[in-house]
Amino acid sequence: MRTTTIAVIHGPNLRLLGRREVHVYGDTTLAQIDERLAASAAELDVSVETFQSNHEGAILDHIEGLAERVQGILINPGALTHTSIALRDALAGVALPVVEVHLSNTAARERFRRHSYVAGVAVGVVAGFGARSYLLGLRALVDHLRDPG
Ligand code: DQA
Repeated sequence: MRTTTIAVIHGPNLRLLGRREVHVYGDTTLAQIDERLAASAAELDVSVETFQSNHEGAILDHIEGLAERVQGILINPGALTHTSIALRDALAGVALPVVEVHLSNTAARERFRRHSYVAGVAVGVVAGFGARSYLLGLRALVDHLRDPG
């Protein structure tokens, strides 16, 4: 049995990946991202459990219960990245290592995307590599759990 489980959280509008602003986010669907994450997790000998919601409160409720069953959180908070102090507080409260990921390079886009409320409570951020950001983020999180440095 795998002893490390990572919670993967996809925030608002990410269910539309593959159809949504393809020139920005690429044509990979969320289901394909989840499949690739599961394959990477198996290679890394960890488990992943994934969750998507368009509702901020549902994401906060989900995070609240994670400490008992996972060792780290990989999150693409979508637009909540730039708006939600409540999400930041939920992540800080659960006190698990967090890696923030974005498909797009948010630093190179509109000014309002340059600030992240989540980054301050994350171990690190991976952005700009399309669907691969998730896989790089998973690898970085597992590496951090094995050797926090
Ligand atoms: C995103 C970037 C956010 O600014 C945006 O609101 C999203 C997607 C990304 O993965 O690039 O919904 O998180």
